[in-house]
Parts: sequence; structure tokens; C-alpha cells
Amino acid sequence: MKIIFFSSQPYDKLFFNLQNEAGQFELVFIEAALSMQTVSLADHADAICVFVNDIVNADVCKYLSAKGIKIVALRCAGFNNVDLEAARSNGIRVCRVPAYSPEAVAEHALALILTLNRKTHKAYNRVREQNFSLNGLLGFNLHGKTIGVIGTGNIGKAFCRIMIGMGCTVLAFDLVANKEMEALGVVYHPMIEVLKSDIISIHCPLNEQTRHLVNNDTIAMMKKGVMLINTSRGGLIDTTAIINGLKSGQIGSLSMDVYEQEEHLFFADHSAEVILDDEIQRLMSFSNVLITAHQAFFTAEAMTQIVTTTLNNVRQLIKKDNLGDRAAFLV
Ligand code: NAI
Repeated sequence: MKIIFFSSQPYDKLFFNLQNEAGQFELVFIEAALSMQTVSLADHADAICVFVNDIVNADVCKYLSAKGIKIVALRCAGFNNVDLEAARSNGIRVCRVPAYSPEAVAEHALALILTLNRKTHKAYNRVREQNFSLNGLLGFNLHGKTIGVIGTGNIGKAFCRIMIGMGCTVLAFDLVANKEMEALGVVYHPMIEVLKSDIISIHCPLNEQTRHLVNNDTIAMMKKGVMLINTSRGGLIDTTAIINGLKSGQIGSLSMDVYEQEEHLFFADHSAEVILDDEIQRLMSFSNVLITAHQAFFTAEAMTQIVTTTLNNVRQLIKKDNLGDRAAFLV
């Protein structure tokens, strides 16, 4: 059983090889991202394994099917990059890792909030330059602040628990209110109310309903000076609108672990190149913007769980076993 890994990084190789010690699978790691231009690299595989920015569109599905490749294993939770209908109509099974370590992402969201607020990234550089001044480092207490959470699934719930522990009031918007969260003190409101929070953190999937959920209209509904955190998917935020919001001061600070056009930048070293994306350059120029490059999931615990679930998913697909789990098996 040969699995070709697209967009693979040294850490993918390390963690997957570790769990494939018995050699059940032949694992081949390639750096290229999957697209119509690169799909032929999978020609002799039995399955492919893809990540967040690999493109599994209708053309790719048709190609894979023609080559007899009927398994696409996502080694991530989000699946907005896969055309599920095209997979279905081409007889391709698609699986993913529905929950590996929600805490990893929720804790990263907290790290972004604390860094933006207390400016530890700036303090670190200052002190190294023997500048011990506090001017410009003023933050605020998180305790007592109102946190708006959009999406209370696995990650949103872990994030709500953390913020309640910090002494915050947590308001949430989701299509379905979660009883466990309500019992903890999370109060569900329509989105328009949640947008008035001091800090907003987004934890819903990217789909046709949520694309550009943060746009000129919703930014205008937010509290002036709001802190906005996005660890979900870049397409949830209209980048042009957020830049305007930052320029006007309506957005007080922004941190994102994901970016609308990240597939051209993230997971690679571009330090010796000229970046042609003017929007990310503009975002990086704001002193109140903090960007990380899709690393929220990146803990040893999460990587181990991703590998276990991905290889189990493939085993089950081969055995045609236990495929009723809609959370893991999408098609
Ligand atoms: P989940 O499926 O457990 O939860 C998603 C929640 O969003 C559900 O409660 C759902 O009802 C809600 N939702 C759906 N549509 C909504 C809408 N229109 N408005 C408000 N809520 C809506 O997913 P999970 O595991 O919590 O992950 C959330 C997202 O986080 C993923 O879709 C993925 O895009 C992103 N993610 C990012 C990672 C990173 O490293 N930055 C790692 C893992 C996931």
C-alpha cells in the first residue's frame, strides 16, 4: 500500500515514519503541493495524503480516479480545499482527522491574545537591545473582559473553557448552542451581539455561508478597538476590509494564524525572495498585527494524534470497515 504525501515537511516524515515502524505502508514524502500541475506525481500510489493548502478540485479528482487512486486522506480537520461532490462522483473516499488536539489550537489562540495584549514579542526584542523602557507596552487585564467566540465545536469549546478560567465573560454564536458550554456559563447570542465583545475569536469552518464572515458590514458592528483573533481559515476574513478596519482604528488589534492567500506563502521559507502579495505586506506593517504561519495545530501531542488517526482512517478504508463515522469519513 503506497501513500504519497503532498506538501510534506520534515516533521511529517518524522512523525509518520515513527508510527509506520512495522512498515505496513510504503510512505513517500514529496514537498510539492497538490494541484493539477503536480497530481501526476501520485501516478503509482494507492492513496494520497494531503494538507490544508493542497487543492483537491474536480479536475484533480477526475485524474486520481482515472489512475485508480481512490483514497484521499486529509491530515487535518478542515476540508474546504476538497471538492467533496467531485470526489463522490469519481468514486474517491475522503477522510480527515476531525479532532486531534483542540487544546493545541485553543492554547495558540490564547498565546496570540496575550502576546498582542502584553506585547511580549516587542518586550523581548527591546530588552535584548538594552532598552528597558515600558513606553508603548501598556496592556489591559483579560480578567473581566468579554470574549466573543464564533463557533463552539471542538476547538471553540476548548477555547471557551480557557477563557472562563481567565475570569472572562464568554459570549458565543454557533448554529447550535452547546449544553455543556451553557452549563459552564457561556451565553449564546445572535452574532450581532457577539460582535460587540472586547475580543472576538473565530473557530468555525470555512464554507459558502462563512466566507468573508468578517467584512465591512460586520466590522462596523464591532466594538471600536476590538481585538480580533483568527486561527480557523483565512477566507473567513475579507483582507481588504480588515486592512481598512485597522487603518480607521475600528479594529484595535489583529492576530491571525491563517491568511486568505496563505497557500502562496505559508509552510515555506521566502526570506530571500520579494513577496508580491501587497496585502500581507500591508498587514505585516501594522504594529498592532501579529501573524503566525498556520502553526496553531503544531504540538507534539497533535502531530502524534494526526498520524494515528490518518493511518487508521486509511486502514479502515482499505478494509471497508466502520465507515459510518461521518466526522472522519467525508465521502
Ligand atoms: P468543529 O467542526 O468541531 O466545530 C466547528 C463549529 O463551527 C461547529 O460547532 C459548527 O456548528 C460551527 N459553525 C458552522 N457554521 C457556522 C456558522 N456559520 N456560524 C457559527 N458557527 C458555525 O471544528 P473544530 O475542530 O472546532 O475546528 C474549527 C476550525 O478550525 C476548522 O474548520 C479549521 O478550519 C480550523 N483549524 C485550524 C487549525 C490551525 O492550525 N490553525 C487546526 C485545526 C483546525
